[in-house]
Amino acid sequence: MSNAIAAIILAAGKGTRMKSDLHKVLHPIAGRPMLMHLMDSVDELAPAKKVVVVGSDKEQLEAALAGSADLALQEPQLGTGHAVQQAEGALSGFDGDVLILYGDVPFVPTATLRGMIDRLNADDSPAVAVLAFDAIDPHHYGRVITAPGGKIEKMVEYKDATDAERDCTICNSGLMAVRSRDLFALLARVRNDNRQREYYLTDIVNIAIADGRPCAAVLTEEYDVQGINSREELAAAEKEWQFYRRARVMEGGATLIAPETVWFAWDTEVGRDVTIEPNVFFGPGVKIADKVRIRAHSHIEGAVIGEGCEVGPFARLRPGTVLEEGAKIGNFVEVKKAHLGKGAKANHLTYLGDATIGAGANIGAGTITCNYDGYFKYQTVIGEGAFIGSNSALIAPVKIGRDAIVAAGSAVSRDVGDGELRMVRAEQLVKPGWADRFHEAMRRKKAGK
Ligand code: UD1
Ligand code: MG
Repeated sequence: MSNAIAAIILAAGKGTRMKSDLHKVLHPIAGRPMLMHLMDSVDELAPAKKVVVVGSDKEQLEAALAGSADLALQEPQLGTGHAVQQAEGALSGFDGDVLILYGDVPFVPTATLRGMIDRLNADDSPAVAVLAFDAIDPHHYGRVITAPGGKIEKMVEYKDATDAERDCTICNSGLMAVRSRDLFALLARVRNDNRQREYYLTDIVNIAIADGRPCAAVLTEEYDVQGINSREELAAAEKEWQFYRRARVMEGGATLIAPETVWFAWDTEVGRDVTIEPNVFFGPGVKIADKVRIRAHSHIEGAVIGEGCEVGPFARLRPGTVLEEGAKIGNFVEVKKAHLGKGAKANHLTYLGDATIGAGANIGAGTITCNYDGYFKYQTVIGEGAFIGSNSALIAPVKIGRDAIVAAGSAVSRDVGDGELRMVRAEQLVKPGWADRFHEAMRRKKAGK
């Protein structure tokens, strides 16, 4: 039986380089706050407790976490060691292994976290397992001075390091695994007698070493522990996330004609033999069944797309869109909270909002469901096999019956029965020869005759 696991996630830093009113860890990557990406990886370890340490933006995090983790307030922010200490109350009574993570280091793989826990519980039983990496460009990271074999001799912050220590390229990712009973006992002994007058979490390692206990470095790839501190780093993280996701979608049997131009959300599901043409953007909540074709320049979010459907080019599917098998949405069509039955079609220039469209119905070019009166939204229900002529305005709430035909240019504000023809437009005025006589008269007038 392995020990219970708790995670402490630090997120009280100011994140000033983002220049944002939104908390840094709530900035989205692939349509999801970076903190929630991290939470997913942590959740795979089935932790007994998760505590997020926050500063002044507590409310934002409270709303985003919605009870999925405890919050501990750190005010003021006196360093990473002080931050971890704030979680002591939330972890009272917890006796297991604690992972210390950073909310702005969201893509550390579960296997890496597991590796830290395993190292902590290895035969030599280190007091702390520190996740480190060999940096290409170590800049201002804290250094992990290690003996061959990964045993730590010293942890030192860049600002406190000697030139010789700065030459070491093994850097501290900041992430650690520590037994709870060691963690808070060691933290109680940390002082802030350093260049930055901060309580360094890294000092728990130095204190344990001074006590004669071993501490171990676990090496990982730099990519796995990349922190996000600026909008540029956010964009770089997004780029890498997309790069890997595109590869996985293609592995799953989808064709991306120009993969670098397709943007997935964290939860996009793509079936087999799906083709996605260039320049398509997916927001959250999209499920695509097999044999679907998403044509170029489409923007799709919150949509369930059934087998064999065709969408786009230039389509916009908004949340609440459901397309059943073989439905077709063509160019410049916007769909919101609308359900299209099997084989229903809206091929051109249409808005379908708050609507149910029966199987095989054909929605003509320029059809608009007028779903909003400036105060409330209303439903449009279109029966199976109905034919809506071009440029019709369906003024909701309204029902169009099965196999009904609405004539082009109709503004329909009353229900149409099954099999009915509805034509709502003025009688045509027909005047043979009138235009010829008009032109003749005007030409003469202009010539002054
Ligand atoms: C820290 C490490 C350093 C490591 C680097 C990796 C310490 C003393 N230093 O340095 O060895 O190389 O991370 O990026 O641990 N935070 C709080 N409260 C605080 C201070 C920080 O919650 O009072 C949080 C931040 O939100 C952030 C994380 O802790 O998520 C790291 O803070 P940061 O200021 O970036 O630490 P560094 O000084 O860069
Ligand atoms: Mg930092």
